[in-house]
Amino acid sequence: MTRNWWKEAVVYQIYPRSFKDSNGDGIGDIKGIIEKLDYLKELGVDVVWLSPVYKSPNDDNGYDISDYRRIMDEFGTMGDWEEMLEEMHKRGIKLIMDLVVNHSSDEHEWFVESKKSKDNPYRDYYIWRPGKNGKEPNNWEAAFSGSVWEYDEQTEEYFLHLFSKKQPDLNWEHPKLRQEVYDMMKFWLDKGIDGFRMDVINFISKVEGLPDGENPDGKKYVSGHQYFMNGPRIHEFLQEMNQEVLRKYDIMTVGEMPGVTPEQGKLYTGEERKELNMVFQFEHMDLDTQPGKNKWHLKPLDLRDLKQSLGKWQSELEDGGWNSLYWNNHDQPRIVSRWGDDKEYHETSAKMLATCLHMMKGTPYIYQGEELGMTNVRFNNIEDYKDIETINMYNERVHEYGDNPEEIMTSIYTKGRDNARTPVQWNDQENAGFTEGTPWIKVNPNYKEINAQKAMENDHSIFHYYKKLIQLRKQHDIIVYGSFEMLYEDHEEIFAYTRTLHDDKLLVVTNFSGNKHDFNWTNPPEYNNQEFLISNYEVKDVDVTNFTLQPWEARVYKLK
Ligand code: NOJ
Repeated sequence: MTRNWWKEAVVYQIYPRSFKDSNGDGIGDIKGIIEKLDYLKELGVDVVWLSPVYKSPNDDNGYDISDYRRIMDEFGTMGDWEEMLEEMHKRGIKLIMDLVVNHSSDEHEWFVESKKSKDNPYRDYYIWRPGKNGKEPNNWEAAFSGSVWEYDEQTEEYFLHLFSKKQPDLNWEHPKLRQEVYDMMKFWLDKGIDGFRMDVINFISKVEGLPDGENPDGKKYVSGHQYFMNGPRIHEFLQEMNQEVLRKYDIMTVGEMPGVTPEQGKLYTGEERKELNMVFQFEHMDLDTQPGKNKWHLKPLDLRDLKQSLGKWQSELEDGGWNSLYWNNHDQPRIVSRWGDDKEYHETSAKMLATCLHMMKGTPYIYQGEELGMTNVRFNNIEDYKDIETINMYNERVHEYGDNPEEIMTSIYTKGRDNARTPVQWNDQENAGFTEGTPWIKVNPNYKEINAQKAMENDHSIFHYYKKLIQLRKQHDIIVYGSFEMLYEDHEEIFAYTRTLHDDKLLVVTNFSGNKHDFNWTNPPEYNNQEFLISNYEVKDVDVTNFTLQPWEARVYKLK
């Protein structure tokens, strides 16, 4: 196993709009990030992944970019950005930027040109097709509802947008477009950034002909995912990108890849193949969704499914590949509300979830506020929601299909992306210390109890627990490089595993429930010494083969 800095790192994601506002306009900004770098240093993270800060009309909060080489006015200037990078590097924190190149904004000058005429030099930067029998070129449904096709009167053709109609897909079949992307990547790398997180990067190669998705129920639009996820030329494109750009820098790369399987994950991250360092897979994020349905169709999590899925990723990528580990990001509900207990066992379950994740093999990601145990939010009024995915889904379901609004709100409370996007709770002052103005989205009312100031003052807080997990990673190679083995596969409430490096073993036992459980290790290895590393309860040394777990307990031992 090769040693790499990005395997040893812990990454912290910043969603800038909601992180910290410095000028009172209610929108987080780059100066706000600079103010909080000492906080991140204190937490101990090595890398920041910054969600998009580029010029954008914000149809999808910056994931619709109208100029890849400029900073969004609301966030600051290029000068602010350069100062931020310098201040991060001064503190030993690296920066990875979001690369959003499956699509651009429809306000990008490439698209403005592309729309002008069929023979415009930029026409083929995007995916244009004539209609079929007076309708859209195919039946695919967009991620944000409706068709993936939008008709353009002027040239009488449709353009493809897998997301909103303000996010036209770029045409990766066109060599000139690919070269533009590589040049833009070099522009940022030459400014000194340390890598990229690549937005839906496994969507960039579409199957020729863009065939209709199967539609047994005769729906208006259906998923076309098998024709654009992990498409025919994806590995070729990524290898080309690696050859042209990535290999020339000492950086880290992580590709966001909905619908990727462990087998494919191995191809994307295999060291020898020279594509990416790691991917964000989604299998575990889909386990509380009804099979074959979209994320709004809820189902409780069966812990055995979670163990099976994460276990498979661990074993498949053991040789030569690498995992990323995450519970949260700006698209997911808050983990303590999702699979923990955000009421009675708020702190305990948040720490348990962190332990379970950070002790697995891979690079852990922390999403802003996760280290404080920030929770999901419930706004009574749909008008208080800002996320395009949520709003479009609500309007379609309630106004077009006549579905029950209360049921839809329950889905939104459980899965909506705005759960992750309420402002970071810095203190118990007005607006949780996020802004002196009116926040662009409401603050979670629980900020008086859950906030960074309070967490930093209390040695037993979730914040200090994360800090300790991060430190342990620096002290014990086995946490980074040890191989993974699942224990207790069939247990419905315990998630336990070992890690092995040379003669050392790590034992990780976590309880995903409010019930007490006995842990009996039936086939323990031989060992002479045991070292207690961390727990969310007061724990003394015990016989590690046999003990009782308290509700939501987590404990980790190192055996020699
Ligand atoms: C994935 C991003 O994480 C999400 O926030 C965004 O809406 C889509 N890709 C489209 O860019």
